[in-house]
Amino acid sequence: MNILVTGGAGYIGSHVVKEILEKRSDNVVILDNFSTGSRKNVDTLKKIDVNGRLKIIEADLSNFSLVEGIFKSYSFDAIIHFAASIIVPESVENPLKYYMNNTVNTTNLIRLATNYGVERFIFSSTAAVYGEPEEVPVKETTILSPINPYGMSKMMSERVLIDTAKANNDFKYVILRYFNVAGADMNNAKTIEDINPRIGQAFPEATHLIKVAAETATGKRDKIYIFGDDYDTKDGTCIRDYIHVDDLAMAHLQALDYLNENVSDIFNCGYGHGYTVKEVINTMKKVSGVDFKVEITGRRAGDPSKLIADNSKILNKLGWQPKFDNLELICKSAFEWEKRLD
Ligand SMILES: NC(=O)c1ccc[n+]([C@@H]2O[C@H](COP(=O)([O-])OP(=O)(O)OC[C@H]3O[C@@H](n4cnc5c(N)ncnc54)[C@H](O)[C@@H]3O)[C@@H](O)[C@H]2O)c1
Repeated sequence: MNILVTGGAGYIGSHVVKEILEKRSDNVVILDNFSTGSRKNVDTLKKIDVNGRLKIIEADLSNFSLVEGIFKSYSFDAIIHFAASIIVPESVENPLKYYMNNTVNTTNLIRLATNYGVERFIFSSTAAVYGEPEEVPVKETTILSPINPYGMSKMMSERVLIDTAKANNDFKYVILRYFNVAGADMNNAKTIEDINPRIGQAFPEATHLIKVAAETATGKRDKIYIFGDDYDTKDGTCIRDYIHVDDLAMAHLQALDYLNENVSDIFNCGYGHGYTVKEVINTMKKVSGVDFKVEITGRRAGDPSKLIADNSKILNKLGWQPKFDNLELICKSAFEWEKRLD
């Protein structure tokens, strides 16, 4: 297949491209504006690409005529669409950035996919579409009720995909709703001591707990904050479902094959169980050997106490078999990657 990967220089996209290059024979075109993407990750992907199957195009999705030119030059069989703005507090301050970059640019991409006969579309969605869910574990059928423009921009993109597929028999999608993505490239490590990531999350302003804990363990931050320790959980801190980025990457490869035989579908991506913020911080301290400073501060608005995926659908229908469901391994890979980042 010829696959267009938007946002392939970013954290999750680069891991998916790595898996495609290592496990399949498809050609990949990365389209990325490098706003948060990493040139270092892309250089590593070029090294992994031993038989010249990877092309990089530096472009912005908002440049509709340029993006259309790319569709004219390549005959794509599938699109995996990661490119987006992803910082929740920023989406509250600047909602139009999120509706333009996430919803409008995605809508244009879907339009081009249908105009140029691209039949498969894999979309990066998020647990943020559920808002503060009434049922946990969260099912794909749980009511969608985003509480910030980021989640809303993704929900609206999902809607455009669903309606477009309803009206076009030749267009199919898989929507993957990621829970908390963490960790870095396992690079075939056999044991936790062998972990030596080649790529990882490179953007410094990330807000994800495990990334921030790794930055604190490596001395890039002087302390880490816990936002609220009075939730109704075993130690008072919020519980999240952390999924290793390599396991998530494999779900994308399976989603591509799934569409050969099946109709469009939506899957939660998570392990179906979670850890508290304190458990994550203590695990990061253990695997790094660094007893970094932790400060408890007030709750953040809109943080549900518990967010866990019901993952039975992805396990049963997609046949996804996660390999790295282990918090120590996730934290260790994030820490080892952070040490290698300049
Ligand atoms: N990281 C998570 O925990 C998480 C959770 C749920 C969903 N997601 C979704 O996964 C996707 C990837 O997230 P990520 O963590 O890899 O983020 P990221 O910021 O590392 O990757 C996004 C990539 O898209 C590129 N990009 C952004 N806007 C663009 C534009 N207009 N034109 C071209 N390129 C553009 C960036 O340069 C970057 O390389 C996003 O759609 C995000 O909403 C991520």
